[in-house]
Amino acid sequence: MKVAIGADHAGVNIKGDIIKVIQELGMEVIDLGCDCHDSVDYPDYAIPVAEKVASGEADRGILICGTGIGMSIAANKVNGIRCALVHDLFSAKATRLHNDSNVLAMGERIIGPGLATEIAKVWLETDYEAGRHARRVGKITEYEVKE
Ligand code: RB5
Repeated sequence: MKVAIGADHAGVNIKGDIIKVIQELGMEVIDLGCDCHDSVDYPDYAIPVAEKVASGEADRGILICGTGIGMSIAANKVNGIRCALVHDLFSAKATRLHNDSNVLAMGERIIGPGLATEIAKVWLETDYEAGRHARRVGKITEYEVKE
């Protein structure tokens, strides 16, 4: 599995911790930056990560900013992206099981590295349940195709 990852200046510390988790799980990392604490703009990282996933070059994406909100708003503008903003373990699992989320967003100003890395691990390791959820996810895809 290939995982694209991106962060702005407010998420760069946790990005490093999550890269280690991805590698420990035996998955490939596509690191799209940023790599510094200078102020940058989150859409410049969210959109390239989302596009990697939408094109199939990456299987999943992970985005970190201060709150995760800007990243998730930007990523969800890309067709085919179901980006979930998650700050707890229950939601990390549920959004994979029910929504087949293909991008995960988190906020480094909200949670610490311990919880963020656990969330990433659960989210990466949980498979989509499909079944009754496939009809609902399908309705989102149908809407996108019509647009
Ligand atoms: C940057 O200050 C902050 O606005 C950004 O990281 C994020 O929280 C936006 O949603």
